[in-house]
Formats: sequence, structure tokens, C-alpha cells
Amino acid sequence: MLSDNIQLVKHNLQVLWFTVNGFTSTQQRRNAMTIKLHNRILMTGAAGGLGKAMRERLKANCTVLRLSDKADCGPAQAGEEVMLADLADADGVHAMCADVDAVVHFGGFSVEGKFDGILQGNIIGVYNLYEAVRKQGIKRVLFASSNHVTGFYKQSETINASHPPRPDSLYGVSKAFGEDLSRFYHDRYGVETACLRIGSSFPEPRDRRMLASWLSYDDLHRLVTACLTTPVLGHSIIFGVSNNPFTWYDNAQARHVGYVPQDSSEQFHAAIYAKTPEPDLTDPAVQFQGGGFVKMGPFE
Ligand SMILES: NC(=O)c1ccc[n+]([C@@H]2O[C@H](COP(=O)([O-])OP(=O)(O)OC[C@H]3O[C@@H](n4cnc5c(N)ncnc54)[C@H](O)[C@@H]3O)[C@@H](O)[C@H]2O)c1
Repeated sequence: MLSDNIQLVKHNLQVLWFTVNGFTSTQQRRNAMTIKLHNRILMTGAAGGLGKAMRERLKANCTVLRLSDKADCGPAQAGEEVMLADLADADGVHAMCADVDAVVHFGGFSVEGKFDGILQGNIIGVYNLYEAVRKQGIKRVLFASSNHVTGFYKQSETINASHPPRPDSLYGVSKAFGEDLSRFYHDRYGVETACLRIGSSFPEPRDRRMLASWLSYDDLHRLVTACLTTPVLGHSIIFGVSNNPFTWYDNAQARHVGYVPQDSSEQFHAAIYAKTPEPDLTDPAVQFQGGGFVKMGPFE
């Protein structure tokens, strides 16, 4: 109870800070990135691609960055703690969530594949995480969802957060499960979550599809920062893409988060067109937003 009250006072002070200071310009929003509103942030998936890319950047958002993964993510550096755990191990997940103020959840099975890996990492693992979050009284989670939750929409459609999921893979189904589970923990227990439907977050777009879905690492950090610092997050679904010249996603329903992407795939456009063939418009991988995922499997 005492810790609940302390959390509430802390939250109200944060809301007051933003109310007094406001965010009237992008510059002010950017400046907020340097304000450490959280003492300890847990980042799962620290040994993975996005975990490695965000490791240094996220230290600006907290006093202590706790890193977790089932794979080795190297020794703790200054301002870091390392606590390895398999997401499928409830006790390990509970321990890694102790004394944490917010979770950035990148850990999990990140591609289409055999169901068992997806089950362990993305279904049992996400349940274990939210149970630990509930028991530890953690108020905010950033859940790395995926564009593959809606991969069976056509590339000729623009979708928003109200469009029903149309997963393109078992992986996409597992991310849709995580989104629904997090909505339940919000409605039932008040845990705030941003479901980040990450497009393609790599150093550069690799093909024509990624010109629409690309998310630069700096924009990913801007998105994470916006979700960590917005006074009231609620349960929000946000498409994680940069300010690309063409895209399939409308983020108008997430204006309250204040994410303003600064990068664009435009600079890669000419080079990608030069090195890739004309698309075959009868190919499902070209027709649908999920690209190649719509044709994968079955995995037996
Ligand atoms: N990179 C992208 O473009 C992209 C796009 C959409 C969604 N995402 C999501 O973002 C997250 C990070 O993506 P990434 O590209 O870094 O993936 P990645 O595969 O490089 O990293 C995932 C990490 O999770 C860990 N992991 C897997 N199963 C685990 C388990 N059972 N217990 C503990 N750790 C486990 C892995 O060891 C790995 O280090 C993933 O959840 C992925 O689904 C990424």
C-alpha cells in the first residue's frame, strides 16, 4: 500500500511537471528525453538486435538500466545491471521485475517459425511478464508488438489502430495475443501499455517494402521515450515507423503520446529501386503489408 501511494505521488508529480512545462514544440519534447523520469527501467531482449541498438540510448531515460535476456548480453557497464532469465520461467521473470519502474519488452521469438518457440517466448513469456508486473506494482510497459499483427491488410490500404488484427503468421498471432493480454491488464489492473507495432527497425531499409515500414533506431528511441514520458499512456497501439514518404499506417489515434519521427526512408529510395527488380503484383508478398511472412510455413 505504501509503495502504491509513493508510486501515485511520483506519477502525480510527473503529470504536474508536464502540465507546468507543457510541450509546445518538438524541441521541448526532445529536451524531455534527457529528463530521467524513471529510476530503474528493465529492458528485455537485451542480447537481440533492438536490445543492442537501444542499450546505450536508453541509459538517458533512467538512473539504472536493467538488462535481461535468455542469451548472454555481456557484462554490466556503468549504469547497468544484468539479470538473465528465460521468459518461460515464471520465477526468473518475477525476480527480474523486482524494483523496476517501467519495462521495455523487446524479448521474445521475433520471426515466424515452429509454434513451440513462439509459445514459450511470446505467449507463456508475455503472461509471465504481466503477472510479474502486476505483482510488483509496475505501472507502465512498452510491449514490442509487430506490423505482422496486421500483415494481411493490402499494401493498397491505410490502416489505423481501430482496424481489427489480421495476423499474417503464428508469430503475428502471438503478438496479437500480447496486445490483448496487455489490454486486459490495463482494464483489470490499471497497468499502462504501449503496444509498439514495430515496422522494420534496422540500420537501413533492405528492400522496397521496408521503404514503407522502416523505423530508424533513433526514431525507435524517440518512440520509446515518448511512451515512457507521456503523462497518461493508457493502453495505446502505435505503429512504429519513421516519417517515410509512403506508408500504410495512420498514427492519428496516438497523438497523446507525442511521438514525432525525425528520420525518413526517402534517402534510400533511389538506391533500393536500383538494386531490386520490378515487383510482381500477383505475388502475395507484394500485395500484402506483411511481405514475405504471408507465405511462410507451415512449420512441422
Ligand atoms: N527488428 C524489427 O524490425 C522488429 C519488427 C517488429 C517487431 N519486433 C519485435 O521487437 C523485439 C526485438 O526485436 P529484435 O529484432 O531485436 O529481435 P531479436 O531476435 O534480435 O531479439 C530478441 C531477443 O529475445 C531473446 N529471447 C527470445 N526468446 C526468449 C525467451 N524465451 N526468454 C528470454 N529471452 C528470449 C533472444 O535471445 C533475443 O536476444 C521482438 O519482440 C520482435 O518481435 C522487431
